[in-house]
Amino acid sequence: MESSTNAYPKKNMQNTYEDEEERKHFLRIVSAFKYYKPHSLQRVKKTETYLLSLPSHHQKLLSNYREHLQEVKRCIENNDDIIKLIIKDVTHIFENVSPTSAQTDTMLNTRPVMADQEKVQATIKQLVRDWSEKGAEERRACYQPIIEEIVRQFPLDFCTPSEVQVLVPGAGLGRLAYEIARCGYTCQGNEFSLFMLFASHFVLNKCRERDIYKVHPWVHQYMNNLLSEHQTQAVFFPDVSPSDLPENAQFSMTAGDFLEVIVAPKLLHRSSYTVYTEDNHWDCVATCFFIDCANNVVQFIETIYKILKPGGIWINLGPLLYHFSDMPMEDSIEPSYEVVREVIKGFGFKLEKEETHVRTRYAQNINSMLQCEYNSVYFVCRKPKRATRPAEPHDQTNSNISIPAQSQSHSESNGTIQEQEN
Ligand SMILES: C[S@@+](CC[C@H](N)C(=O)[O-])C[C@H]1O[C@@H](n2cnc3c(N)ncnc32)[C@H](O)[C@@H]1O
Repeated sequence: MESSTNAYPKKNMQNTYEDEEERKHFLRIVSAFKYYKPHSLQRVKKTETYLLSLPSHHQKLLSNYREHLQEVKRCIENNDDIIKLIIKDVTHIFENVSPTSAQTDTMLNTRPVMADQEKVQATIKQLVRDWSEKGAEERRACYQPIIEEIVRQFPLDFCTPSEVQVLVPGAGLGRLAYEIARCGYTCQGNEFSLFMLFASHFVLNKCRERDIYKVHPWVHQYMNNLLSEHQTQAVFFPDVSPSDLPENAQFSMTAGDFLEVIVAPKLLHRSSYTVYTEDNHWDCVATCFFIDCANNVVQFIETIYKILKPGGIWINLGPLLYHFSDMPMEDSIEPSYEVVREVIKGFGFKLEKEETHVRTRYAQNINSMLQCEYNSVYFVCRKPKRATRPAEPHDQTNSNISIPAQSQSHSESNGTIQEQEN
């Protein structure tokens, strides 16, 4: 399949990018990518300036370090070459977004915000997680349990896989959705970050050969390097040719907020999404490192429940990092997993499998002296065939909360919890 034919169908973007605010947002992200090189070089320059102010015998002892900083600058240049390719044709991805040249000039001359620079760097690291050989182990831990469960639920020999509709909200750079489609299922990834959408568009539609590009994902990590070369290490991508999908594979990416695009694809700007829900559509919703991206996780769970067909399954893996927690100007609730579980059951889902302490990483530099690992939760739950009314708080039938015991992981115990149907 030509991923370009299905990825980012322009019709989905007509409503999303129709107004001025969205055009401005688009330009802000392009501008952030363009500002990557000067911003990153400025950071090196600061260190170099201090280095040059040190006593000459210190400088002499640090001569290898000074050379290393030259290499860091070369890596930033290389990353910038990839960034130029990523943003080369972005105005053609979406209809209705093409800014006028006056708008472009104004926006591109605006100094981008710091947080956006971090997102550019995170996008480069995400290329490693999703589309490099180096990310294979991380993907095995995060994506494989989800893919295996889909195959268990919809056995390829006993169903017509292309008739099984799978949605991956918060798809990032699209690898999980791509792998599900590669199995033969009809899979749609959904993503609202333009950082992610620009980069996934590049990988899915412009990369035709394996490992033809390289990035230096850890070049901005100045601390906790055992060897200098760990900072400047190159990682090649993509580890597969994304266009190598089976002829009949059905794979697409939609752009926009999961709560709006998915629920009411033709009515994006209605204020009340609940009125226009396209309920009961998906056979499976697969979320990976996603549900904690909500201001209100209950709204995400409610939406997943609504859009699943009766009998459909939701597979989830990830931590509860709660991305909006303590962010200025952002609302957030941060219920524990114990409470999230009550909410899931409260809507009527039947928990069929559950595992805690699933050891997972996210865009991790394995050479770093600092390692971050999540004890993620993994669960599979089903919307009952005969849909029940979402429970009122006093109406909870499944209030026996017992979180599975600690130290169960896929590798150690296959500690899957099978729960009784109520
Ligand atoms: C932590 S990342 C996980 C990406 C991918 N699932 C993975 O495991 O690598 C969460 C992603 O969800 C996206 N996201 C967050 N809220 C969203 C929403 N309301 N609609 C669509 N995408 C969203 C973010 O932009 C981000 O790319």
